[in-house]
Amino acid sequence: MGTQILRIKINGQPLQLEISPSASLLDVLREHAGLTGAKLGCGRGECGACTVILNGKAVASCILPAMEAMDASVETIEGLSKDGELHPLQQAFIDHGAVQCGYCTPGMIMSAKALLDKNTNPSEDEIKEAIGGNLCRCTGYVKIVEAIKAAAEVTRER
Ligand code: FES
Ligand code: FES
Repeated sequence: MGTQILRIKINGQPLQLEISPSASLLDVLREHAGLTGAKLGCGRGECGACTVILNGKAVASCILPAMEAMDASVETIEGLSKDGELHPLQQAFIDHGAVQCGYCTPGMIMSAKALLDKNTNPSEDEIKEAIGGNLCRCTGYVKIVEAIKAAAEVTRER
């Protein structure tokens, strides 16, 4: 099968990647861009482990054909820390014990970031709605919601 060129900005870096036309955005991130933070869970858009931010919106990258992200801007978990300092969400997940096996964590944090980028003072219901598509088999969600609330507070103070 032939290949196609995908122009895409990932974590601020413009890239041109030669990809299979049938590749998902998750395939491209993991196999072409070397970014393995977004995880393959269900592969069907149901678990959220593969969540990244595409043009400001949290998306399930496993079901998004990569060519649909032509000229788009993608943020992944790898782009969150700056100058060696963790993003408030990453720090809050650690501080609040919101990570156990960690498989859901990159997707969970990217869904939360998409929320906080638009709303630094979300209600508990808004937080739950934002992570509604992210499944965690370990934590029971309480600590995750607490961590997102704490990160929102830090973000507001900045
Ligand atoms: S791996 Fe994409 S939603 Fe489950
Ligand atoms: S921490 Fe294990 S699935 Fe969420």
